[in-house]
Amino acid sequence: MQTHILSPDRTGLARAAAFLAEGQLVAFPTETVYGLGGDARNDLAVARIFEAKGRPRFNPLIVHVASVEIAKTYVEWSDEADRLASAFWPGPLTLVLPLKPGTGLSPLVTADLPTLAIRVPEHPVARALLEGFGGPVAAPSANPSGRISPTRAAHVATGLSGRIAGIVDGGECDVGLESTILGLSGSGQSGPATLLRPGGLPSEAIEAALGRELTIHKGGDPLTAPGQMSSHYAPGAAMRLGATELREGELLLGFGPVDAAMNLSPAGDLTEAAANLFGHLHALDAMAPAVIAVSPIPDHGLGRAINDRLRRAAAPRP
Ligand code: TXA
Ligand code: MG
Repeated sequence: MQTHILSPDRTGLARAAAFLAEGQLVAFPTETVYGLGGDARNDLAVARIFEAKGRPRFNPLIVHVASVEIAKTYVEWSDEADRLASAFWPGPLTLVLPLKPGTGLSPLVTADLPTLAIRVPEHPVARALLEGFGGPVAAPSANPSGRISPTRAAHVATGLSGRIAGIVDGGECDVGLESTILGLSGSGQSGPATLLRPGGLPSEAIEAALGRELTIHKGGDPLTAPGQMSSHYAPGAAMRLGATELREGELLLGFGPVDAAMNLSPAGDLTEAAANLFGHLHALDAMAPAVIAVSPIPDHGLGRAINDRLRRAAAPRP
């Protein structure tokens, strides 16, 4: 299959929307990372997503829609969902809510779970594509399963060329980390608000908007704790975290004022570090060191999400 590189103009977006309508896959930029999009109502398209990524089937996908109004047609809405959507959508927050019956979504999207992960992305190219296509787009990060998430079209091409119909090149992603995933119960219930995956929206901001603390999901069943599979973000090299000195055979991924092969943020800025994380890991991995050593990263705000990704990249490989 030839993978077409499309520009984010009218012609390119029209072609991308046409591919989606045919059940083909198109990678596109969001503010977090590039997504690998397919029509969420089309089983074959969704199956192609798992196939192209080589992703385990039980890992459900996030559905991307153009507006809050459309999101409400797929999931049971609640006051808290409304507060979060007003505060943070469009943006790097995914809400997991009870799936409404009869939505026409492919069950492959939810891996048959009674809940659906849904978000309204902010990136203008993602928004233009969703509006042009006019339907829900299932989109995991556009990388082969277990590899680093892509923050540039070139990363997508390296991992998925020849396996998908198109890539809309919208430049570099601003946030550079996947969306924060929050689980909420449906209307009229006062269940916990559960942080299922730290990500581009700091959990502190969500707690402030809700006026209550989040329950932090720790490990457990991959069906109820998707995205928690241990070596999900692994580069080819081994990883050593919290490195304060460099050993033989290592390249340093630095943070702060250190002498490093690549530095996430010489100034020690966590937002800059998040935006650089996957790009720098890709670049270091391409240098094929035995080990990528990583400077300690403060564990607050976006640092929590960065450390979550780094721990997974460092986890023992299956
Ligand atoms: O920023 C992002 O979220 C990117 C862009 C493309 O939007 N997408 C992304 O998708 O990171 P993906 O598939 O790589 O990660 C989706 C995560 C997975 O860990 C999945 O298991 C979890 O969301 N998930 C999906 N549906 C779920 C559900 N019903 N309950 C709990 N977790 C769910
Ligand atoms: Mg992913």
